[in-house]
Amino acid sequence: MRKLRIGIVGMGIGLTHLKGYKALPDAVDVVALCDLNEALMTSIGAEYGVPLHYKNFQDMFTSGEVDAVSICLPNSLHAPASIAALEAGLHVLCEKPVAENATAAQKIVDVEARSPGKFMVCYNRRYRPDVKWMKNAINNGLLGHIYQVKAGWVREAGIPTKTGWFINKKVAGGGPLIDLGVHMLDLALWLLGYPKPLTVSGTVQANFGPHGLKIKREPTDPPLPPYDVEDTVSAFVRLEGGTTLNLETNWASHTKPGKDDLYITLVGTKGTIEFYVENYAAVDTLTFYTEVEGAPVTIRPGIVGERSDHLYAVAEFVKCIQEDSSSPATVHDGLTVMKIIDAIYESAARGNEIAVDAVNK
Ligand SMILES: NC(=O)c1ccc[n+]([C@@H]2O[C@H](COP(=O)([O-])OP(=O)(O)OC[C@H]3O[C@@H](n4cnc5c(N)ncnc54)[C@H](O)[C@@H]3O)[C@@H](O)[C@H]2O)c1
Repeated sequence: MRKLRIGIVGMGIGLTHLKGYKALPDAVDVVALCDLNEALMTSIGAEYGVPLHYKNFQDMFTSGEVDAVSICLPNSLHAPASIAALEAGLHVLCEKPVAENATAAQKIVDVEARSPGKFMVCYNRRYRPDVKWMKNAINNGLLGHIYQVKAGWVREAGIPTKTGWFINKKVAGGGPLIDLGVHMLDLALWLLGYPKPLTVSGTVQANFGPHGLKIKREPTDPPLPPYDVEDTVSAFVRLEGGTTLNLETNWASHTKPGKDDLYITLVGTKGTIEFYVENYAAVDTLTFYTEVEGAPVTIRPGIVGERSDHLYAVAEFVKCIQEDSSSPATVHDGLTVMKIIDAIYESAARGNEIAVDAVNK
């Protein structure tokens, strides 16, 4: 089988994608990079031996030099770049969020339906070994009917400001909800088998960012745009089938210094699983509570393996192209999450619970 020729657009997290592809030397060749920052692109290209460099992604996509691309651009460029790549017939691995809102995500859905290219959202947390264990356990009925899910990602001082755009609503689409909450919403829904979200009640607040609080900067970092996104989110989602989903996420809060922890608790009729990750580290994250012969039992599954989830995500993308199988994280999954996120912002603005389908109408 001919090796896939890969292009990577955006050299921030795009470098992690590059390392993921480089771990698959028999399957792919990374042949092209694209970034507005020419110095960064040149130095990465030299270090990793990538010959072709573009400043304009459209030129890369129509060059005939690439078969598949990773889109690792600021959020509001995900839809334009993904659509251009799909229209050029390329396979696309697009970073999360799939777009800055559901309207833009719907445009990708429309183009993907008529493109020969495959489209995968980089929901990399799905591929952690502990998360895969949870998914198998749930599919095998270990929890029974899951009726309640609590998910969150909580930071002490983690407002992302290195390249500025994350705090700018027009480019990012939002704050921690679209940055961190997007992962937790996808994980929760995916573990449940993607039930339809019905209604949402949400609040967003900004107690730190706009006041310049809990913002860590290096002297070499560029000046920041005005801070006009939230830094704290609470939301409650009703799902088809009666399951409820509580979400909390923030970039900043008074808590344990350096905290950057994510969690999901799935509560079922036969058992409960707690997944708790401290500061991205370790895969030994799971606790399972159940009953045996009427007595409560607590199990700590001994999960081993790497937590390097981007490497797994890239490998899944390549596999789905090679095997011509369906996308492991579809554009529809991306759209559903964006509909919930739009609904949380809408609910927060209106101050009441709203139907997810009523947004963007
Ligand atoms: N899945 C994850 O865990 C994860 C982790 C980090 C970032 N991300 C996502 O990846 C995306 C990029 O985030 P990042 O942290 O790498 O941002 P970043 O700002 O560090 O990098 C973005 C790069 O894109 C380049 N760029 C901007 N506009 C461009 C254009 N028009 N053409 C070509 N290059 C352009 C910039 O010069 C920059 O090098 C975001 O959507 C973010 O949410 C996902």
